[in-house]
Amino acid sequence: MKNIVLTGFMGTGKTEVGRILSRRLGYVLVDADAEIEKEQGITITEIFKQYGESKFREIEANIIKKLSEMKNAVISTGGGAVLRQENMDNLRKNGVIICLTASPETIFNRTSNNNDRPLLQVENPLQKIRELLEFRKPYYEKADIMIDTEGKSPIEVAEEIIEKV
Ligand code: S3P
Repeated sequence: MKNIVLTGFMGTGKTEVGRILSRRLGYVLVDADAEIEKEQGITITEIFKQYGESKFREIEANIIKKLSEMKNAVISTGGGAVLRQENMDNLRKNGVIICLTASPETIFNRTSNNNDRPLLQVENPLQKIRELLEFRKPYYEKADIMIDTEGKSPIEVAEEIIEKV
């Protein structure tokens, strides 16, 4: 079977769903953001602060290229990875691309109690979430399978993914 690639906005549950999927399928779990932090030796927040978003996207694309070569893996990507067609093409070579979705309000609730997402460190995060979602919608829709996570537990989402792949 192909790799399972999880895409979707921040707070849609990619990390938790990825953990469950990897256990159920006996696949290795890799998280692109965690790999970036490991390689760079600093946090994503620090990378944004020191080098800016465009440099972060470069680093992210390089990591995704490497992770795309893996087999039998659940690959969890950062919420903006879909913005580069190159990332989608690489990930699709060995994988099926799943996109997790949720409403802006749910995303806001799931992300508001931590400050590790530099793009949401603004005065009005809910407004920012709405704007980013609107802009990114066509990119997320490039996935092979869309899964609405609204009102579902991560286990239910993982089971739905297993049924559909
Ligand atoms: C980002 C999402 C984050 C992380 C970075 C940028 C985005 O990952 O890659 O802060 O552009 O949506 P998560 O989706 O895992 O929070």
